[in-house]
Amino acid sequence: MTNHNRSRRAFLKTTGVAGIGLSILPSWADAANSAEGVSFIQQPLPYDYKALEPVIDTMTMEIHYSRHAATYAKNLMDACAAENVNPTSTRLEDVLRNISKYSPKMRNNCGGHYNHELFWQCMKPGVPSKPEGKLAAAIDQSFGSFEAFKTQFAEAGKNRFGSGWAWLVLNNDKKLMVGSSPNQDNPLMDISELKGTPLLGLDVWEHAYYLKYQNKRPDYITNWWNVVNWDFVQKRYELR
Ligand SMILES: [Fe+2]
Repeated sequence: MTNHNRSRRAFLKTTGVAGIGLSILPSWADAANSAEGVSFIQQPLPYDYKALEPVIDTMTMEIHYSRHAATYAKNLMDACAAENVNPTSTRLEDVLRNISKYSPKMRNNCGGHYNHELFWQCMKPGVPSKPEGKLAAAIDQSFGSFEAFKTQFAEAGKNRFGSGWAWLVLNNDKKLMVGSSPNQDNPLMDISELKGTPLLGLDVWEHAYYLKYQNKRPDYITNWWNVVNWDFVQKRYELR
């Protein structure tokens, strides 16, 4: 059994939706092509646990996806039940935009689930790529060059004290911005200092890199550029 199939099986076991055809489940492939629509349910990883080696080791990917991220998804459903949020009729993004009205448990787990669902899609196996087309032009215009953008983004990740995320966002004025957020907060949240639509997110929690990189977060960030899925980021940018 491939890791991908294993993760699908774990997903079905966790969610109890084995009787539902996977083809009708919401997917990030769809979400990449629409402005809204991240499912409350953890989606299968789009690649095997080993697919991002050597940048991200197999054990880190497996623990990260099947334990850390799966727990956020489970706790999100618990928070929804406790706070009368119906996952079938509510947009997850709307919960995030109004997160100040919910509990800390909802903030941590709704953010944690969304951030990880985005993170898996922001990466892909294969040869390193670069942004192209309109996104490449916008990055050049906003940051001076792709290299200057990478430096600024990496600094945001390195300088985030403790746990959190580095982001490339499109703000409400349709400007690209780089920044970071603590814990599992994200730029969609009404309480976030950095506001906008996240286009690219980097998990800088130690659980994302410690087995391979230990205290060397900068090395993790440097290598991470080799697995960024710029096709996905570009689609998100061009649809907004
Ligand atoms: Fe994580």
